[in-house]
Amino acid sequence: MSFSMGFYMAVQWFPGHMTKAKKDFEKNLKHNDMVIEVVDARLPKSSENPMLNQIIKNRGKPHLKLLNKSDIADESITKSWIKEFNQLKDTLSLAVSAKNKKDRISIKEACFSLVPHRGTSIKPVRAIIIGIPNVGKSSLINLITQRKIAKTGDVPAVTQMQQRIIVDEEFILTDTPGLMWPKIEDETQGNYLAASNIIGIKAYDDTEAALYLLDYLKVHYKNLLIKRYQISAEECEQPSEVLIELIAIKKHLVVKGGQSDLKKTSVMILQDYRHQKIGLVSLEKPEKD
Ligand code: G4P
Repeated sequence: MSFSMGFYMAVQWFPGHMTKAKKDFEKNLKHNDMVIEVVDARLPKSSENPMLNQIIKNRGKPHLKLLNKSDIADESITKSWIKEFNQLKDTLSLAVSAKNKKDRISIKEACFSLVPHRGTSIKPVRAIIIGIPNVGKSSLINLITQRKIAKTGDVPAVTQMQQRIIVDEEFILTDTPGLMWPKIEDETQGNYLAASNIIGIKAYDDTEAALYLLDYLKVHYKNLLIKRYQISAEECEQPSEVLIELIAIKKHLVVKGGQSDLKKTSVMILQDYRHQKIGLVSLEKPEKD
């Protein structure tokens, strides 16, 4: 399969924009004590921005890596990720959910533990928060600040301003503007991000994303698929192109003439995954697992 043009359009790393984003981030980093990075717990590697991670590493700033949306990820896989990330230098990793009010305290405590020499009204902790679009950065900012803070622009070419948010007298957050795209290395990663609603709706093909999703679920969550779509173990082992037809028939999703409605079936499968109808699923595992 060729690399989908849509992905390029959606997440292209425009060299000029990237150079500017990199410079801005490096400048911002100097005035902050630590970085809070938000990723999606279901795909914590693919939802990183590798360029920013390299800068953080080079600068040796304390790094809090928040695996957000852990309420909808596979808990055991999230635990493995946390273990893996916690082995990285200067890094502390936490599984959180912007939907869970209690996580506000754990996030703040983690920040204070990473910068023990600050955290007073004279020397507040200054944290810069980063994350690619749709990982839940704004939702987490709202959770941390207990306010509704306007979103910084995530669209290239829109004027973007960094936002300094005084959480309280001991804690200052700086939100970064957009241009923090993931770097899509291959078709699989692009389709997993699409299935997880991280890249925009016009950037991918529903059927392609659903087929990639089925390919993964068949191997890693076979029993969940069998249960959700009332298919047999043998049916589940069919190639995804065949399996999707079987699911269409089971769900009576057919077009005139009796053929399977692949578009509708694909959208249904994607929605089922996004709304946890299949179960709590993660699409990436640490390599060592
Ligand atoms: P961003 O700033 O990183 O771009 O992301 P934003 O906070 O706008 O969140 C993107 C979507 O992810 C929103 O859903 C939001 O509700 C959802 N979300 C954020 N954090 C979590 C989390 O921890 N758990 C779950 N389950 N969902 C989370 P939406 O459908 O776009 O909007 P909404 O109608 O839910 O507000």
